[in-house]
Amino acid sequence: PLLSWKKSISKQHSCQKITNLVFFYLQGWVRSVRSQKEVLFLHINDGSSLESLQVVADPSLEKRDLTFGSAVEVQGKLVKSPHRMQNMELQAETIRVVGPCDIWSFPLKMKERHPLEYVRQFPHLRCRNNTLGALLRIRSEATAATHSFFQNNGYVHIHTPIITSNDCEGAGELFQIAVSWAKDSAEETHFFNVPAFLTVSGQLHLEVMAGAFTHVFTFGPTFRAENSQSRRHLAEFYMVEAELSFTESLQDIMQVMEDLFKTVTSTVLSKCPRDVELFHKYIAPAQKVIISYSEAVEILKQAPQTFTFKPEWGCDLQTEHEKYLVKHCGEVPVFVINYPYDLKPFYMRDNEDGPQHTVAAVDLLVPGVGELCGGSLREERLPFLESRLQRLGLTDAYQWYLDLRKFGSVPHGGFGMGFERYLQYILGVDNIKDVIPFPRFSHSCLL
Ligand code: 4AD
Repeated sequence: PLLSWKKSISKQHSCQKITNLVFFYLQGWVRSVRSQKEVLFLHINDGSSLESLQVVADPSLEKRDLTFGSAVEVQGKLVKSPHRMQNMELQAETIRVVGPCDIWSFPLKMKERHPLEYVRQFPHLRCRNNTLGALLRIRSEATAATHSFFQNNGYVHIHTPIITSNDCEGAGELFQIAVSWAKDSAEETHFFNVPAFLTVSGQLHLEVMAGAFTHVFTFGPTFRAENSQSRRHLAEFYMVEAELSFTESLQDIMQVMEDLFKTVTSTVLSKCPRDVELFHKYIAPAQKVIISYSEAVEILKQAPQTFTFKPEWGCDLQTEHEKYLVKHCGEVPVFVINYPYDLKPFYMRDNEDGPQHTVAAVDLLVPGVGELCGGSLREERLPFLESRLQRLGLTDAYQWYLDLRKFGSVPHGGFGMGFERYLQYILGVDNIKDVIPFPRFSHSCLL
């Protein structure tokens, strides 16, 4: 039988019961080779965990192409290991090199701790690095935990489209889809008859669905043509978005953000303890802080430091401002609520206050990363939405969105969380490019 050793090894107790009579086929990649006079030691890893299984073999089984990085199949007996550091080891009877590895040109070296910036140059090989491997297993676990969180709380999962004709955020960061099949025609044709883009957010489609299913979520790729090389921006990233009908307070939205964060984090910490150990030790924040945008601007104005962008009411909070606010509040998560009306997209609910006119928006800022989540109550009142869209000249494009306010409109709201920023935050990873398998950012689309 073809067995992954991990399946048995991970269950240490059952493993001990297996004792030394089980015959195993182990398939994986060689992480280390150590040849001694009497014995040959190999460490084989199949990617299912950080651990490699030690293989002990007679030196006569050594072959020239049995090197670091090669793919092998080992057949042998799984026995209790005499070494303190491991439970089991494989006593090899046959070793087959399935795919040799040219160690001289292979960019990863045995027993070297390659920095993440180094392995980033090899997007097709970096998953064989321990740190990247751990990150991607954690990412996989966090993905499953995110789905479970919503499914367990009665949310319906919606596949929102990747190709869309709307610009949800109105921030001018759209990737337009161009089709070049009309080769012999000078005429420009739109494949869809209308300009189409890669989605910047599934929110508007979720709002449609929240009008039927009450609580919905989506979790998929999101695209922004941000000309940024920063350590927290990607051109393609994953966003977790939730939309809740019959919700009248920002407090409810903030509570879901917090519950999602806590549940996914505790699942990841308990399911991937060895992988998580490779990163900074995550300590759950003792508290959170909620401040209004106006308070945030006052705090920034009184800061004993100067900013590149002078803080003024009505201006967007820049990374340097977010950083300062988090520091000022004691390096804990900070919810900033009620942003200027003119700063935010058309769909946000008017707070009808003044003279500093605001909307019911919320951003969650976290230490080391800055903005992790953005959300709001949506404008569910037809006259308010109509007049805002009219002023922006968007009435025709958003007739369908206005319809939602005509046919059974309810107070509702939601948020989006950047999945890579979430991973960056809990693992303390400095650069967002290291928490996604294939990073896409301006001037870089390798592979
Ligand atoms: O604040 P944003 O722009 O919110 C929206 O798109 C809403 N329509 C979501 C909603 O209410 N359903 O983006 C949400 C989050 C940000 O807080 C950030 O974490 C992440 O998405 N994000 C990015 N992550 C990586 N690279 C980028 N270029 C990002 N832009 C936003």
